[in-house]
Amino acid sequence: MTLVEKINVTREFLQAKGMTAPEFGLILGSGLGELAEEIQNAIVLDYADIPNWGRSTVTGHAGKLIYGDLAGRKVLALQGRFHFYEGNPLEVVTFPVRIMKALGCQGVIVTNAAGGIGFGPGTLMAISDHINLTGQNPLIGKNLEDFGPRFPDMSNAYSRDYREKAQAVAQKLGIQLDEGVYIGVSGPSYETPAEIRAFKTLGADAVGMSTVPEVIVAAHSELKVLGISAITNHAAGFQDELNHDEVVAVTERIKEDFKRLVKAILAEL
Ligand code: HPA
Repeated sequence: MTLVEKINVTREFLQAKGMTAPEFGLILGSGLGELAEEIQNAIVLDYADIPNWGRSTVTGHAGKLIYGDLAGRKVLALQGRFHFYEGNPLEVVTFPVRIMKALGCQGVIVTNAAGGIGFGPGTLMAISDHINLTGQNPLIGKNLEDFGPRFPDMSNAYSRDYREKAQAVAQKLGIQLDEGVYIGVSGPSYETPAEIRAFKTLGADAVGMSTVPEVIVAAHSELKVLGISAITNHAAGFQDELNHDEVVAVTERIKEDFKRLVKAILAEL
């Protein structure tokens, strides 16, 4: 099956399950998936039951696709995403974004846990732009002409309009929302201190192992993106050691603000 045929099969499958006409896609990163539990009138599918869908293997990622109402909007939420470092081809990592577009979403909110280069643990950071240091690009191969051009523009991949709305909402709620550049790497090893020093020089404010492929695919078909990083730790070299447990613990601490913020933003987009 070609990628377009796979997209059509999965789109029709999800529509037949009642997942029709979502307005917004939500990609919920490490520890941030709880938000999906607040979706009303929910239709829930296990990833394992969806054709052409990947499998989630990381702690803190549930592996469910949830459709329903959140903050007055129809959303399609990924509780747990696919990472390149799990061994997934980028076609699998970004397939949910293709589906969001195919089902008619106008925008996606992409979230992740990230290491802070300029920012400390507990920061919520709206992503203003990214640096793709994965060495990969999900658009390599035959271009999907029905979705977008061979050489898509990335100048406004993280919609300025969405970011301005997000800032206004954050201010209203009294939640600090910083802004910065996300540098995407493949992982799964955390960075070395020398790499982090280099990334700082390159202009990065946060580092993580996701998001970049999904946002490239979103930009390809002019799906608007709001990216939010939850900074869970100081990146390597700024603290003694790094481990996934800390990432999960800090996420636990900031997720109430995160959930409040994302819901309020959804209502305004
Ligand atoms: N580096 C890369 N990915 C991450 C980090 C980090 O420090 N923290 C959470 N995800």
